[in-house]
Amino acid sequence: MSIKALKGFKDILPDEVGIWQFIERKARDIFRRYGFEEIKVPILEKTELFVRTIGEDTDIVEKEMYTFVDRNGSSITMRPEGTAPVIRSYIENGLFVRGSVQRLYTIGPMFRHERPQKGRLRQFHQMSVEVLGSNSAKIDSEVMAMAWHILQEIGLQASLELNSLGCTECRPSFKEALLGFLQERLPDLCDDCQRRSSSNPLRVLDCKSEHCQAQYASAPSIIEHLCGPCSLHFEEVKQTLTQAGVPYALNPKMVRGLDYYTRTTFELLTTELGAQGAIGAGGRYDGLVRQLGGPEVTGIGFAMGMERLVMLLGQKGGLESVPGPDLFLITLGERAYEKGFVLQQDLRAAGMYVMMDHEGRSMKNQLKQADKHRARFVLLLGEEELEKGEAALKDMRSGEQEICALAPAFKNWAPVILAKISERTKE
Ligand code: HAM
Repeated sequence: MSIKALKGFKDILPDEVGIWQFIERKARDIFRRYGFEEIKVPILEKTELFVRTIGEDTDIVEKEMYTFVDRNGSSITMRPEGTAPVIRSYIENGLFVRGSVQRLYTIGPMFRHERPQKGRLRQFHQMSVEVLGSNSAKIDSEVMAMAWHILQEIGLQASLELNSLGCTECRPSFKEALLGFLQERLPDLCDDCQRRSSSNPLRVLDCKSEHCQAQYASAPSIIEHLCGPCSLHFEEVKQTLTQAGVPYALNPKMVRGLDYYTRTTFELLTTELGAQGAIGAGGRYDGLVRQLGGPEVTGIGFAMGMERLVMLLGQKGGLESVPGPDLFLITLGERAYEKGFVLQQDLRAAGMYVMMDHEGRSMKNQLKQADKHRARFVLLLGEEELEKGEAALKDMRSGEQEICALAPAFKNWAPVILAKISERTKE
């Protein structure tokens, strides 16, 4: 029996890779425009890192982590998200010494043992960004504007929902109000919410059960419980978002699925992916660095789900595929094949994307291969052409063919062909 991939783990095949590369290219360019630098962090971390940051009462930690004991008996976890590893690295490597504000991004796979469905995988990819070391509300707006900018440049639309979760000062009064509200409805709530209402009441607002969500429609609003400084911060975020030209809608029920958030939280939503509408989400986490043993440094960030972006672009059509080779070298006869083999290396050294056939196929078949690979040009090198010191160059787009006189010295063939192709592609 053939071995299949794990459930919820998906191959990204060559035909889809063009769209992944397109998104990554655009995003990396925008990250640079906003002053972000790339950081690469490991996929495996100590389990404790995620338990302490994401929170013990969250779905991720309770039900979704790929956690196992390694050969040394240590509990390790395949990262379910990128923020905790980046902060761990920031503290461990003393990145705060490089400058007071660090703008970092990372792109890579994350792992959550969720029930797979459209737009929800067990291995998925995130583009995740973090700004460490700034309290300014303008940073919050800038980060959201950058997420907005990425979507615009890749041609997608989403709605931005915004909330503030307050801080350690104002959250207790909200918790109390929420607790009172929950107590009255306790028997009507799901088991998770009943349990969490005493251990971590805010968490219940993130419950996936429709029945629970219907009850929470009239729950108290955190925005009404914000303390003075949090309220001021939130006002400035809203104002500067508008200045940055980013439309948003307030959603006081949004608590996010991770415990580390404080103040600003946001989600980028689409209605075009069924139940999995969040294409990106993030927020501020002002106590997290300190909590992990680092300096008193605040932070904000977000992550976008690559698969969801890819699906949305796929649904729109007009997918960008990876371009085919510049040139497919067709050779006929032993001598031409030997020359062609060296010539393809010379052309590659000169920067061209070149392919040729090594299976001794007929000319018709080699042409078919060139077509299948979407080669831009074909160079035909036969025994006869070799004798005459020439080769036929075919433009696969226009179908035009011309005879190129090759230079007397073999080492000059590649530059002659390169010049011919550049001239033709300029036309
Ligand atoms: P998150 O909301 O858990 O936040 O995930 C961010 C995005 O990752 C989601 O909006 C979604 O697009 C994508 N995503 C999450 N789970 C899956 C899945 N199972 N399959 C496919 N896509 C998925 C975080 O992870 C935070 N670390 C974001 C952040 C960065 N906050 C501050 N900095």
